[in-house]
Amino acid sequence: MPPADPMPLASSTTAGPAVVEQPVVQFEHVSLGFDGNPVLCDINFTANSGEMLVLLGPAGGGKSILLKLANGLIRPDTGHIRIFDEDIGQMSEEKLFAFRSNIGMVFQESALFDSLSVRDNVAYRLMEQKDNPEEIDRRVVEALSFVELEDAIYKFPAELSGGMRRRVAIARAIIAQPKLLLYDSPTGGLDPITSTTIIQLVMKQRDVYESTALLVTHRLQDAFMLATHRFNLQTNQMERIPGNKTDPNTKFIVLREGSIAFNGTLVALLQCEDPYIKEFLA
Ligand SMILES: Nc1ncnc2c1ncn2[C@@H]1O[C@H](COP(=O)(O)OP(=O)(O)OP(=O)(O)O)[C@@H](O)[C@H]1O
Ligand SMILES: [Mg+2]
Repeated sequence: MPPADPMPLASSTTAGPAVVEQPVVQFEHVSLGFDGNPVLCDINFTANSGEMLVLLGPAGGGKSILLKLANGLIRPDTGHIRIFDEDIGQMSEEKLFAFRSNIGMVFQESALFDSLSVRDNVAYRLMEQKDNPEEIDRRVVEALSFVELEDAIYKFPAELSGGMRRRVAIARAIIAQPKLLLYDSPTGGLDPITSTTIIQLVMKQRDVYESTALLVTHRLQDAFMLATHRFNLQTNQMERIPGNKTDPNTKFIVLREGSIAFNGTLVALLQCEDPYIKEFLA
């Protein structure tokens, strides 16, 4: 589906300069399969500091697997995955555990612990690290305030709506102020209005904290909104970038049958002549 606002995008101009290129996520010739069935084949891409890479592709196309590889939850069969210049495919489990404090992940379907309160879900990582309880409480309130959910601190996941669960999952992902965020379908299954609220939070994290992110989405509207809007801290809202410009740090990857069919800006994506991409966007 095309952007909600059908104004044409300025073809070559982006809003402000792109970030200084400092690689945060590097996939080099990464392949992975299960039981002899290839899922990802020779994947190569880089996300630089401050960039948001939006991952698109068909169901079962390997998007969640790609995020799990970036978090070290799965190791590649071949190739290298460097996160902040460290090869996580080669890291011991112990080192990976500590290393993951640099990475926040919002899992598909939120993946909250049903038996834990919102407070304990959000605090989970800090409690595992055995941080000071007062510091944990301060950080939980800060993270819940970011997602505007302070009032739900003592509720349990079963008492929350789908959108609230996603906000708790985002609070849990950002609590350690990670420099890299991995969002797996954060708006999946949500109604359009709630989806927009979630995208606004993702955008706030991108534009206020300048974190690097990989974001999977099935909703092209979300992807286009991320590229055409920025968060305004004064108004506490996202706003369309003036002059039909696009955010220089938001780029797109489209997966197709385990390979990268497209990697580039929104303007390039919309101008792409590849029949598969055209059909995907149609
Ligand atoms: N642990 C596993 N064991 C075996 N096969 C797996 C495993 N995890 C994923 N797969 C397979 O890998 C492929 C890619 O799965 P993945 O979950 O990454 O898809 P996806 O692009 O995230 O799909 P969706 O859009 O539906 O979330 C699928 O064919 C899936 O069945
Ligand atoms: Mg998935």
